[in-house]
Amino acid sequence: MARMRALVAVGAMFGLAAGASWAGGPEVPTKFTNNTSITETRHNLTQRDNAGQVDAIQMDPYRNDYAEVCVYCHTPHGASSALVAPLWNRTRKSTSYQTYDLLNTVTITQTITTPGVNSLTCLSCHDGTTAVDSIINMPGSGNYDPAQETQNDDGAINTFLNGWTNPSGTEAVNHLKLQAGATGCLGCHAPGTLASSAQDFTIFAIGTDLRNDHPVGITFPTTNPDFNLTTGTSARGDIFFDLDGDSRMDKNEVRLYDTGEGPEVECASCHDPHGVESAGSGSQFNPTFLRVSNVGSGLCMTCHVK
Ligand code: HEC
Ligand code: HEC
Ligand code: HEC
Ligand code: HEC
Ligand code: HEC
Repeated sequence: MARMRALVAVGAMFGLAAGASWAGGPEVPTKFTNNTSITETRHNLTQRDNAGQVDAIQMDPYRNDYAEVCVYCHTPHGASSALVAPLWNRTRKSTSYQTYDLLNTVTITQTITTPGVNSLTCLSCHDGTTAVDSIINMPGSGNYDPAQETQNDDGAINTFLNGWTNPSGTEAVNHLKLQAGATGCLGCHAPGTLASSAQDFTIFAIGTDLRNDHPVGITFPTTNPDFNLTTGTSARGDIFFDLDGDSRMDKNEVRLYDTGEGPEVECASCHDPHGVESAGSGSQFNPTFLRVSNVGSGLCMTCHVK
């Protein structure tokens, strides 16, 4: 019976739903080309691609168009001190998560704690609690509010964000979140509610219940024959799977993050939010921002001996 329970948990991981597979695709179709730069991916929240195929104007009422790709996540000045990630520009709400250990699968041997910084960055959009355009320092002067670092009040967030005027015209007064329901992005981006030509984003809305996702905030075993040993250590001590032996954490290398509890698996262990070329410079990015293609379960077997 215990074995059954573990298997059920495995099936539930990543919520293997419509069209999704661990083979690394097929992806939910996109109008972005998914190569060259983050600008050409869904993480371009200005919703523009070079060919102008994505109709950004349709999206303008629902999020501020800062007309800059990086600013939804980073700022050169006034970055967050509440979430210590590279020049981080996003609001960090106080959110509690249901972590994988609550499933009580008998097979887990490692310690799971709350998601670390290198997961909280992603969750600041993907858990659906915070508007995707809720940042601390909007472009231009006078558009900075340090209270945004830890703002929990949606009213205050909206008041601040409403100070922004979209360059493309239509004003955003709805600052939507990656969540279901009429007041969320899935109000148009889900089956049944799909606006014409909008894509189904249900599987991207991870929520605060992480029990059906690969564990994060989990320490990495060092003496377990079911796991490969890491092969590289960076100058500052981070450990990772060094593919080219240069002791540098390259973006196509799976890594662990030590934020005080020992090296742990976090979202960014497997994903690089800027995209990673699948076959060298100029090639198509791996699907779903993966650091390593999961064709043939290559990503999984970087860590797991199976
Ligand atoms: C009123 C309906 C509506 C709402 C609400 C909405 N969208 Fe959209 N969205 C669309 C439509 C329609 C398109 C397709 C535009 C096109 O065909 O060029 C789109 C396209 C997109 C794309 C580009 C998809 C791709 O890969 O080609 C992204 C990303 C996106 N929306 C994100 C969001 C986010 C994030 C939110 C919440 C902040 C949101 N949308 C809310 C209607 C909506
Ligand atoms: C959707 C959010 C998002 C956007 C947009 C984004 N980044 Fe990042 N960036 C991140 C996250 C998250 C990290 C930390 C990754 C980690 O935990 O290792 C990061 C890290 C970085 C780093 C540190 C080194 C590295 O690659 O991890 C640099 C440099 C960087 N980003 C530059 C940029 C630039 C330049 C742009 C715009 C062209 C940009 N980013 C757009 C989320 C984003
Ligand atoms: C600023 C908000 C934001 C942040 C921060 C962010 N994302 Fe996203 N992400 C989005 C939006 C918006 C989409 C488009 C689909 C949607 O609206 O659900 C998306 C899509 C994705 C997709 C699907 C890509 C595809 O083409 O199929 C993956 C995978 C993903 N994000 C992973 C991550 C990870 C991992 C991190 C952290 C390293 C992260 N995201 C950080 C907003 C964000
Ligand atoms: C152990 C590696 C690993 C970790 C850790 C991980 N992911 Fe993923 N993620 C994947 C793989 C593999 C896929 C592709 C699944 C597919 O093709 O269906 C994926 C897909 C996704 C998608 C696209 C939806 C889907 O299922 O296709 C999103 C969004 C996403 N991950 C976000 C996150 C966030 C946020 C975190 C941290 C809470 C995270 N991931 C942690 C490996 C991982
Ligand atoms: C960065 C390293 C890493 C990668 C990549 C990785 N995992 Fe894991 N995985 C772990 C760790 C660590 C554990 C916890 C092991 C333990 O507690 O004994 C784990 C646990 C699991 C479990 C067991 C959950 C349970 O309830 O016992 C499964 C199943 C699993 N991973 C599947 C996958 C799949 C499928 C992939 C590829 C999509 C993958 N993993 C990629 C590190 C990784």
